[in-house]
Amino acid sequence: MAEKTLDGKVALVTGSSSGMGRDISIALAKQGASIICCDLKSEANPAGFENDLDTTTVDLINKRGGQAVFFKVDISQVAEIEHAFGEGIVKFGRLDIAVNCAGYWAPFRKFAAEDDDLWQKMSAVNVLGTAKCNRLAIQQFLRQEVDTAWGSRGRIINISSCAANIAFPHEVAYSATKAAINHMTRAGALDHAQDWININCVAPGVVATGMARKNFEDDQIIKHMQKATPWPRLGTVGDITGIVVFLCGRQSAWLTGQIYAVDGGMTLGVTP
Ligand SMILES: NC(=O)c1ccc[n+]([C@@H]2O[C@H](COP(=O)([O-])OP(=O)(O)OC[C@H]3O[C@@H](n4cnc5c(N)ncnc54)[C@H](O)[C@@H]3O)[C@@H](O)[C@H]2O)c1
Repeated sequence: MAEKTLDGKVALVTGSSSGMGRDISIALAKQGASIICCDLKSEANPAGFENDLDTTTVDLINKRGGQAVFFKVDISQVAEIEHAFGEGIVKFGRLDIAVNCAGYWAPFRKFAAEDDDLWQKMSAVNVLGTAKCNRLAIQQFLRQEVDTAWGSRGRIINISSCAANIAFPHEVAYSATKAAINHMTRAGALDHAQDWININCVAPGVVATGMARKNFEDDQIIKHMQKATPWPRLGTVGDITGIVVFLCGRQSAWLTGQIYAVDGGMTLGVTP
């Protein structure tokens, strides 16, 4: 049997019910980690592309012999995040990994058409919620010893977006708040490298998930996305999970503060 690389580790994943967060939670559990699943609700987004949407992430993990627990969390609500971190850590005794997938996106519109509510919600979820999860994870890591075999005291992986790396039309608030995640990754990693804490970020391109369903069903938008992506296909959740699992493993212990564009080359430059 293949070695489980994360045996004994505990991972908290936000946005765990659907899309990337769901696939990442299942993959980390497969590697032996216990998972603290956090989302607005335990059921998957019905617009998702998964073929097992009627089963929750926690049920899938538990059925396959893993360990997972669900907390209802809106990451824009400080008390709900604190509750999930607190109770999750009590349940599993520690925290080693935090994957911050939960994010808010709104359909495309021009900058002048964006309103205050949109900016407030984008900022509350994408910036403040993600920052709070980073800080709570770091505070817990600092209470624990360095795992010398793993090469680290704790790992954080934030999920931003290709729209954080290049200017993207008709999503200014989303792009700006995702760019904040890129930079909190760099600045946070600098502050805590001496503590043996890795903070990295994955910036996905266009990935088939419930969040992107409307785009995938709009011929014009999808044609445009395909044209902007040099690689001959668009993304799947597995493309994102692969690098997140790598960033949780022993081999990536000396990587910190980096933004990994996983986007089929979308942010390389002008597409031929
Ligand atoms: N799908 C794409 O093309 C794409 C591209 C770039 C970046 N992203 C980012 O990837 C991340 C994951 O999105 P996805 O594509 O897997 O979408 P998804 O809709 O499949 O999953 C997102 C999950 O996050 C949860 N969530 C949303 N707001 C939340 C909140 N305030 N608190 C807690 N949970 C919340 C949702 O309920 C959902 O289960 C997001 O941060 C998104 O911005 C997605």
